[in-house]
Amino acid sequence: MKFGHFDDEHREYVIETPKTPLPWINYLGSKEFFTLISNTCGGYTFYKDAKLLRLTRYRYNDVPMDINGKYFYIKDGDTVWNPGWKPTQTDLDEYECRHGIGYSKFKGVKNGVKADVLTFVPVNDNCEVSKLVVTNDSSEEKNISIFSYVEWCLWNADDDSRNFQRNFSTGEVEVKGSAIYHKTEYRERRNHYAVYSVNAPITAFDTARDSFLGLYHYAGNPEAVLNGKLTNSMASGWSPIAAHQLDVTLKPGESKSYVFVLGYIENPVEDKWESHNVINKKPAEALLAKYDTDAKVDAAFAELNDQWDKLLNIYTVDSSNDKVNRMVNIWNQYQCMVTFNMSRSASYYESGIGRGMGFRDSCQDLLGFVHLIPDRARERIIDIASTQFEDGRAYHQYQPLTKKGNSDIGSGFGDDPLWLIAGTSAYIRETGDATILDEMVPFDNDASVAQTLMEHLRRSFGYVDTHRGPHRLPLIGRADWNDCLNLNCHSTQPGESFQTFGPSEGPVAESVFIGGMFVKYGNEYADLCDLKGLTDEAAKVRASVAEMNEILLDSNAGWDGEWFVRAYDSYGNKVGSKECEEGKIFIEPQGFCVLAGVGTETGQAQKALDSVKEHLDTKYGVMILQPAYTVYHEELGEVSSYPPGYKENAGIFCHNNPWVSIAETVIGRGDRAFEVYKKTCPAYTEEISEIHRTEPYIYCQMVAGADAKFHGEGKNSWLTGTAAWTFVNISQYILGVYPTLKGLSVDPCVPADFGDFSVKRVYRGVEYDISVKQNGAQKGVKELIVDGVKVEGTVIPYDASKKTVKVEVVMG
Ligand code: BGC
Ligand code: NOJ
Repeated sequence: MKFGHFDDEHREYVIETPKTPLPWINYLGSKEFFTLISNTCGGYTFYKDAKLLRLTRYRYNDVPMDINGKYFYIKDGDTVWNPGWKPTQTDLDEYECRHGIGYSKFKGVKNGVKADVLTFVPVNDNCEVSKLVVTNDSSEEKNISIFSYVEWCLWNADDDSRNFQRNFSTGEVEVKGSAIYHKTEYRERRNHYAVYSVNAPITAFDTARDSFLGLYHYAGNPEAVLNGKLTNSMASGWSPIAAHQLDVTLKPGESKSYVFVLGYIENPVEDKWESHNVINKKPAEALLAKYDTDAKVDAAFAELNDQWDKLLNIYTVDSSNDKVNRMVNIWNQYQCMVTFNMSRSASYYESGIGRGMGFRDSCQDLLGFVHLIPDRARERIIDIASTQFEDGRAYHQYQPLTKKGNSDIGSGFGDDPLWLIAGTSAYIRETGDATILDEMVPFDNDASVAQTLMEHLRRSFGYVDTHRGPHRLPLIGRADWNDCLNLNCHSTQPGESFQTFGPSEGPVAESVFIGGMFVKYGNEYADLCDLKGLTDEAAKVRASVAEMNEILLDSNAGWDGEWFVRAYDSYGNKVGSKECEEGKIFIEPQGFCVLAGVGTETGQAQKALDSVKEHLDTKYGVMILQPAYTVYHEELGEVSSYPPGYKENAGIFCHNNPWVSIAETVIGRGDRAFEVYKKTCPAYTEEISEIHRTEPYIYCQMVAGADAKFHGEGKNSWLTGTAAWTFVNISQYILGVYPTLKGLSVDPCVPADFGDFSVKRVYRGVEYDISVKQNGAQKGVKELIVDGVKVEGTVIPYDASKKTVKVEVVMG
């Protein structure tokens, strides 16, 4: 069952009912100012950091769900309604929400009045702009009142939700004309404030929540709105808000338009004040003036759309499969931008006060983003590497505002160092810019011990190479990619964090998965050594990789007979083996070892993937492990804490489904690669939205596995490495346009009935127009013709002097 439809021409998902199975959200903003917005106008806004600079309040896990947002109320006689249905939930005659690329549109119609709202964050300003157009479609004159409402957050969202003894006394505001200013803590150490304004004279306002809502009311029935009259309240402590009232007369057929701007302003410390305790509003007024007419707003909206036209032109596919075209050309790339911006900080499942930027997460997000804005990827790589320690380990997370490592979670995740190689290699393969390797980059943000980025990568590789266990496999530490395999943790008391309890490293617990990563990214690191002319080092690295390859294939170490072992616990017992009672087979080492090329010559790769199909496959995707753990295993950690079928305990963890799909392309099985791709692909799961529940235009982190009560139900949408890995899978492996250090390679692996297709790819400033004749083949390039000239192999020689290159590929 569907609750909307795709409008590919406008790059929108059109939601036809406010009663979606879960809030279906969108992200506005692409650089520093961000808004989460749901299909009923819920959500919140922050500047740079969802924990430290939160502008508006949101209450997670509240009832009814998704209740706080940025609302417009329309009072027409005795009827009060919202264009997005919530929070009054007054039945609408018509409702529509269109989530687009960096904007959302709402249409609500009630009793002959239509309200259209367009909300977006302009490309170059720190504000959110909402254009509200009200139209009288009835035959009578209408006298309506429009009310706006946002609730300010006292900046630090963590403190805001806990420290009430202080916070109920700090709130401060100013009002000037139609502009309401939130200036809590500005008198002391802050030099920033927020403003919410409308480009028309207002009848009244409120800035104190209790006056607007009424003490015993809530956002669904605000007293002042029901009374038809805001009270001009000036907040002092408690909960400051911003609400405007506009009284509007509309003749039959008449429309009126209003622009609301919610902005963030920073002043230089010496220029904070206009007069004693009166904030300097000049920069705010300048900002508001940029959006005070429809024409200016329309121009800013066009600029946003132009930006996305350009970004989404960098990689486009034209195939006979509409769903693939839609995901590749629009939604998958869009989600990659969002995961790049947010890492794992703020979604409807990540509260924005928890995890900030993940080291491994952000490195992986780069893989799906780097072709879009390489300069920002470059900056991000430097930021991430700056949180690495001198010995090659890394902080597991860092805060986006301060860019400093988060010492609460600390370090010790065995896989983290290698992901830095993955991100850097992707950047250089995309751009050809090897100068990044010469950048001086601090360790633990200490510039006095800075070394080149190349040296950082060397230490990444070196750390894993020198921290091995009894089988010469890499030590797992606190966990590897699977945050829940906490083999050194041994926690028995509720409340202890599985990720930080216990030693950060034990001498015995090993990860086969990191072994697979070591092969994949060791090879990429060796290529970078070659690029730098470090042939001796490259040879040494390759020797280590070759040794690891053997270890992984050895039935006394990485190989279990029919698949790869997952790990060895701190007692030296196998995890993910036929010898285990539960958790006999895990997905991660099968996908990652094979995509790294391990076992492709011995038949073990094929065997491992066949085992995945036999033991882990479901109609909704490939599960992370089987059989699920039914009892808690102290020696394994969080993995066995989840009820069977959820999350890392036998859920369908979407992130590693593309690893399996990529692995299938590595061994040339296009049918199966595509089958795996389709199972978790939003354009396909849209049809079962009532089961899947999360947004049908983007990936979620986890779908409940076969053991779960709600098999097929998705959770934790948006912020997941699935976005980047799926884009890598479909664009670079299935469609096969893969950036190498030497140039673009074209080597598709598609299902037998996929048909001919073409890809346009802008790469290092050259536009490649690639057409592929499939000939029913799943893999194999019989002929590669570049501008009419036959080329051996699959790599198109890079020639910067050309603007466009025509590439013909014949498979077979
Ligand atoms: C979750 C993981 C997550 C981790 C973060 C665990 O509870 O299951 O998916 O990565 O927490 O700390
Ligand atoms: C989500 C985390 O963000 C990611 O870092 C981790 O790899 C997966 N969960 C699996 O545990």
